[in-house]
Amino acid sequence: MASNTTKTGQPLDRAILDSLLRRRLFYTPSFEIYGGVSGLYDYGPPGCALQANIVDTWRKHFVLEEDMLEVDCTMLTPHDVLKTSGHVDKFADWMCKDPKTGEIFRADHLVEEVLESRLKGDKEARGQKVVVDEEKDNKRKKKVKETKVVKLEDATVKEYEEVLAKIDNYNGEELGQLIVKYNITNPVTGAELLPPVSFNLMFQTSIGPSSNLRGYLRPETAQGQFLTFQKLLEFNQQSMPFASASIGKSFRNEISPRAGLLRVREFLMAEIEHFVDPEGGKKHPRFHEVQDMELAFLSREIQLSGRTEVEKMTIGKAVSTGLVDNETLGYFLARIQLFLLRIGIDESKIRLRQHMMNEMAHYATDCWDAELFTSYGWIECVGCADRSAYDLSVHKDKTGAALFVRETRQEPLHIEEWQIDLDKKKFGPRFKKESKTVEAAVDALSQELREKLSLDLEKDGKVEIDVEGVSDGKVVLEKDLIKIEKRTRVENIREYVPNVIEPSFGIGRIFYSLIEHSYWSRPGDEARGVLSFPPVIAPTKVLLVPLSSHQSFKPIVDRIALRLRRVGVSNRVDDSSASIGKRYARNDELGTPLGITVDFQSVKDNTFTLRDRDSMKQVRASEDEIVAAIKSLAEGEETWNDVFKRLPEFLGQDVE
Ligand code: ATP
Ligand code: GLY
Repeated sequence: MASNTTKTGQPLDRAILDSLLRRRLFYTPSFEIYGGVSGLYDYGPPGCALQANIVDTWRKHFVLEEDMLEVDCTMLTPHDVLKTSGHVDKFADWMCKDPKTGEIFRADHLVEEVLESRLKGDKEARGQKVVVDEEKDNKRKKKVKETKVVKLEDATVKEYEEVLAKIDNYNGEELGQLIVKYNITNPVTGAELLPPVSFNLMFQTSIGPSSNLRGYLRPETAQGQFLTFQKLLEFNQQSMPFASASIGKSFRNEISPRAGLLRVREFLMAEIEHFVDPEGGKKHPRFHEVQDMELAFLSREIQLSGRTEVEKMTIGKAVSTGLVDNETLGYFLARIQLFLLRIGIDESKIRLRQHMMNEMAHYATDCWDAELFTSYGWIECVGCADRSAYDLSVHKDKTGAALFVRETRQEPLHIEEWQIDLDKKKFGPRFKKESKTVEAAVDALSQELREKLSLDLEKDGKVEIDVEGVSDGKVVLEKDLIKIEKRTRVENIREYVPNVIEPSFGIGRIFYSLIEHSYWSRPGDEARGVLSFPPVIAPTKVLLVPLSSHQSFKPIVDRIALRLRRVGVSNRVDDSSASIGKRYARNDELGTPLGITVDFQSVKDNTFTLRDRDSMKQVRASEDEIVAAIKSLAEGEETWNDVFKRLPEFLGQDVE
């Protein structure tokens, strides 16, 4: 089971980590001097660099590796687009209002918090150990008045646990029933709440000075990609399958933003829309490359039975047994996991959770979330949905645009079907201005009906057809007007609307989870925090530390800094008067993986020590060797162990 400990086995102290992140300006509440607005954050220098490196790795791992077509579409989106996509009517959460105070609660979160709180009280009453998350607990005490130490019936405990396991599966009405059944009230005042109502999460605006064009800030980047489909297909020389990708901000007016970067109102998304032919089982040509990867699955069935344990199996087995619906979905689940590992996410804190039926977005037919374990529990960081042909179909039907694929069949298709011929010369004079309506009704007749009508025609010499919009609602057509025959039609062209597999990444949630997974403190000194980002991801790669302020060091430091910059390696100089150990410790907090010390020996023979953040071990070598080693570490070509094996260890000077 994943646990909330750092790599040294210590419990993660979120208060210390939070203070580090604020102090070192990873991110900070927006508009703070005006009192702040919840759910909005600004990123500082190390935060920007970390985010940029995550995004850069994402681009290389997906866009470059898989030759995806990247687009950058607008965030402002007209109402009609999001009406058609279903977001205007369905992109909503359930909220409950306290009619007296006007306070608003997100219904599922409220039920979750109150039941968790009661379970905690029960554990305490039974004298069981309760792992307390201080911040969550203080908030809960403030918010949930009933943190009473009360023993519950065994059956009630079981029932609460079952409800919590499937909390994402309840609709508004069911949440309302739970609130009544478990007597859930305003946790602070105890007042009764109004039944849950739906709250649309999109920020509305108007486009242009006349305010006539209603619009929204986009809640996902996906719609822009769907609307460009036809142009992208052409760009791709009509070749299928292909994927588009987009990185950009999305906006959601969350009912109760919480947990720092995990639930905010403006966030960076990186989304892929992989367009695939629905026929042939949605195979993926590169599935064999990942089929032996073992992943941790939490299926829909397990959750519905009130449990949360994961089952480990290869993605190959998950697809062949039908747990994961198809190869393309499976391929992306494995690639998502590889990306997360590449940026430094802890493998034991990743699970793939399948959505329950009610939980799925309106467009999805199957959906798996890559969840990461943090001190806030399991957090959805990447959603991977099979959106079927939903989006392209609705936009095609609404606009008439050719959002489909037209391809020549390798083998022509021979279709046996009932065909109808009308004698147009007689038809016009007979039905006059109703001709078109009658013709359209005849065209729309199903194959079944055509077969039946052919028998009527043979037997009675006429057929009767329902036609909406003509007097009597029926017309009779005699043998001289209509002919119905079974014939073979040869189809050389196939038209289909592609299905879409969509991996959707919330960069902010991944960013925060990565920080938690990378954080630890030097044993015996809790205040000495270290962020063990892999060099590829670290905001700054190298710290340059002159031994003292001696004037002979400065030109050497400047030269190395410039040389590193020339090969694209970010670095910082710390020439303050603090001890070397202190200077390194300050940069451990920023996750800087490497340090170069410039000392008197360097002035003499142009050799330098290179220090590894995590092991604090050092090697010593010439400038050229050190720069080359740094470059290969920063680009992920070598690990510290590789470098440590091939360059001589330096034991001379203690830089703790
Ligand atoms: P949740 O159920 O937690 O609200 P969601 O199911 O609405 O999330 P998706 O609609 O699948 O999330 O969005 C895709 C990704 O965008 C998520 O996996 C997550 O990483 C990110 N995301 C969604 N909402 C937020 C938010 N309010 N703050 C930060 N990231 C978000
Ligand atoms: N595009 C996926 C989502 O917004 O949920």
